[in-house]
This record gives sequence, C-alpha cells and structure tokens, in this order.
Amino acid sequence: MDIRYESEARGDAVAVMAGEGGALMDAGRALDEQAKGALTKAMKTARFKGGPNQVVEILAPANLEFGRVLIIGVGDPEKANALTVERWGAQAVRRTLTTGAEALALLPEAIGDLSPGAAAAHAAFGARLGAYRFDAYRTKLKPEQKPSLKNVNVQAEKAPKEDEAARALAQGIAFARLLVSEPPNVLHPEEYAARLSKLEEHGLDVEVLGEKQLAALGMNALLGVGRGSARETQLVVMRWNGGKKSEKPIAFVGKGVTFDTGGISLKPGAGMDEMKGDMGGSAAVCGAMLTLALRKAKANVVGIVGLVENMPDGKAQRPGDIVAAADGQTIEVLNTDAEGRLVLADAVWYAQEKHQPSAMIDLATLTGAVIVALGHEYAGMYANDDALAAALETAGAAEGEHVWRMPLAPAYDKMIDSPNADMKNIAGKPAGGSIIGAQFIKRFVREGQKWAHLDIAGTAWKPAPYDDPLSPAWATGWGVRILNRFVKDRE
Ligand code: BES
Ligand code: MN
Ligand code: ZN
Repeated sequence: MDIRYESEARGDAVAVMAGEGGALMDAGRALDEQAKGALTKAMKTARFKGGPNQVVEILAPANLEFGRVLIIGVGDPEKANALTVERWGAQAVRRTLTTGAEALALLPEAIGDLSPGAAAAHAAFGARLGAYRFDAYRTKLKPEQKPSLKNVNVQAEKAPKEDEAARALAQGIAFARLLVSEPPNVLHPEEYAARLSKLEEHGLDVEVLGEKQLAALGMNALLGVGRGSARETQLVVMRWNGGKKSEKPIAFVGKGVTFDTGGISLKPGAGMDEMKGDMGGSAAVCGAMLTLALRKAKANVVGIVGLVENMPDGKAQRPGDIVAAADGQTIEVLNTDAEGRLVLADAVWYAQEKHQPSAMIDLATLTGAVIVALGHEYAGMYANDDALAAALETAGAAEGEHVWRMPLAPAYDKMIDSPNADMKNIAGKPAGGSIIGAQFIKRFVREGQKWAHLDIAGTAWKPAPYDDPLSPAWATGWGVRILNRFVKDRE
C-alpha cells in the first residue's frame, strides 16, 4: 500500500471527520453540500453520534465522484490528540481495505492542538498501522478477501515534516508484529538471529553470539532454558550509534522465548499455541531498533535479545537444577516454566558488563500474573529510579502504550531466597507473581544502574475482538512506540 500526499486528494472512496453529535468538519460539510445533504441524511438515519471510530458509510451518492463516503467520528475535537487522528485514519483503511476500492482519499483536519501538517502525518501513520495483516500463510484467500486498496491519498499541501519519522515507526511496529505472529516452527532462535543480522542493511551493527560464546561467558541461566531444544540458543546485540561518541548508550533488553512449552514443568495444552508470542519483549526491542535506524535517531542505543526455545526433552533442565548465572550468582530452578527471568538474568548482565548503559529497560512477556492484575490495557512497570519511571509513563501515555508502576520491596525479594542456592526462580506461591518476577531480575541489576522492567504479557498480543483500529491483528507490536518515544524525548 502506497501513501501519498495530495493537495486535492482523489480516490474511489473518501473519509471525512465528524465531531461529537455528528457535526461534520470542513471537508465533510463541503461534500455534504455537493451531495445536496446526503451525508447529513445518512448520519441521521444511522443515529450517528460522532463517537471515536464510529462509522457511517454511504455508497454511490449522487453528485459526488466518490463511490463510497466514510464519515468517521473523532469525539470532541477539542479533546482530540494525535492518537485520535491515527485511529481515524486506521479505521478508514480498515473499512476500505477489501471493499474493491483501490484508492482512498483521506481528508484529515487540524483538530486539538495538531497543525494541518501534523494531522495529515498522523492520519497517514494510522492508515499504515490499520493496514497491517498477517496472511503470508493463507494460500486460499478468495480475491474478495484480499486487500484491494493500493493507494491512500492524504490531503495536504505537501508531505509533512513528521512523515519520515512516522513511516520509520510504522515499519518498526510492523516488524515487531510479524515476529510475534510468525509460527514457532519458522521463527526459532536461529532463524530469528538470521533475520536480525539482515538489519545491518539499515545501518545497525548486529552481532550474534551462539552457544559456544555464551558458554565461554558463563551465561548458564540463559543456556539452561535452551537445553531441551533442538535449536541453538542465541544472544543478539544490535547497536545504533547516532549520538555523540562520548555518550553512554541506552540499553533495551528483551525476552525472546520463541516458544514456551514450560519445559519439564510443562504447561497445559489448551492455549499453548499462544506461547509462540513469548518473544514479544524481544520483538519490541528489535522493532524499536529498526525504527531508530530508519529515522537516524541522534542517540546511542543498544538492543540485546536472548533468543531461546523452552522445550521438554531428555537433555532439558529439570526442576531442582542449580545453575550459575554469568555474574556468578547461583539459581535453583524450581519451575522450568519461570524461564523468562533466567533469560533476562544473563541478558541484563551482558548489557551492563559490556555496555555500561545510562539507563536499562527490559521488556518481557514474563508472567500470567500481570494479566490478572492489569488485563490487556496497561503493561506492568517496575523501576528503581523515579525519573526513569516518570519518563516511561509520559512516553507511554503519548503513544497509547500505557504503563502502570508496580512496587518493588525487600519483603518481596526475601521470597526468592533459597536454602540450596543464592536464590530460587519462583516464590512457590502465586501471590504477587509479576512482582516476584521483577524482584528476580532486580537481583542482577548492579548498584547505581538505572533500570526499568516492563511486564508485557498482557499487551504483546490481545484476544479477539481486535477493536482498536490501530492494532487490527492478534500481535500488537506493543513496546516499539514507547521505546522510540523514550529515546526521542531525550534527543
Ligand atoms: N511466558 C510465560 C508468561 C505468560 C503467560 C505470558 C501468559 C503470556 C501469557 C512465562 O514464562 C511463565 O510461564 N510464567 C509463569 C511463572 C510461574 C511459573 C512463576 C506463569 O506466569 O505462570
Ligand atoms: Mn514459562
Ligand atoms: Zn515464558
């Protein structure tokens, strides 16, 4: 799908904005006049109230060149922001994608505090996200099930200055969504690492460490998780050096369990297929790194992902095994299904040991418990630094990727003390499960290191119905936006 900016946008279909109460904005009013009131009549007939994402569709109206008119609500225009316009653009695309229309004219307007140019850029960005589909493996789609839309023509005097960065962000999100959606037989750790190596063509520095190198570094917490897998465990390090030479990098660290069976502590069968998405934290890191490279961010950032498959096998790690992590601390693995924290223990060690980051943010689909606590709307956030937590809160709110800060405290930490090793990987009780996971990772964070952990088990993918037009499929790509914005706010 190609997006263009045109001063007189053309298409087989057109989308206009309407505010609360179904009040057409300028572009819609002009069309309504041309169509002799057909839009007003349709809105009345449909009891259209102009609420966000609400749609009235008019087919073949007399006196208009467009065969299809979409009136899409934006709610109160005074309260509208960038996300409102993005959802509007996404909804327009979703409603025309497979209708037979080949070109869609988007007529966005300056609302809230957005300039006309910014509104156009955000509408185009929403259109890109709304067009996302995962249908690479569907060989029998009928022509009418396939996207017909080829062009989105956004009305604007010229391509807005915001367009390039928005395009880079959309590409990063699409990449993250694809990684999460890919089936686990295809996207295993070796294939994943190979795909990341290809990111070098966008200017990233990519280094892949295999099992031999990981063993030499003593990364036995990570390696233990992969012992039952036929695939080689990998650690991939991606670097973007767009900042000053002297500037310490920000580190993003991601859990990349390409499939989580639970290992010997096997998960129940129902719904296990969803565990192909257990690399969602790593996907967010990879998508963000791609975005930073594409938009040539003026910042130094390192992205580190631990890629591993958690399988039961004769060689698999057992409950009761004790492993020594790279930093020397020993872990009693009482549940092989609490594997994400083992991956992160060594990955955050690597980040600190090799890159001395100014701030370190890890992302992981770490616990079912965070879904119980926060559902699929907010990610759980843990931080040892108030300013870092506040920066993430602000970045997330601006991008529609919300985080909710959760507590860390010595009383929780005590619950992972073990009589047999320095710590155990579960508390043994379900209480505060997401917090326990965070406390475990914290044991591998060095004194003075600014750190935040995002538990994204509830937000990396979401159950149907997929009612946010910006996120039209199971995989959300959650994390790319907040990370990119976090970097941008510091540039
Ligand atoms: N990958 C899971 C967490 C998860 C659950 C992600 C549901 C997305 C949806 C993680 O590895 C896991 O199995 N966690 C266990 C931890 C427990 C054994 C302490 C859990 O949440 O049950
Ligand atoms: Mn698990
Ligand atoms: Zn897992």
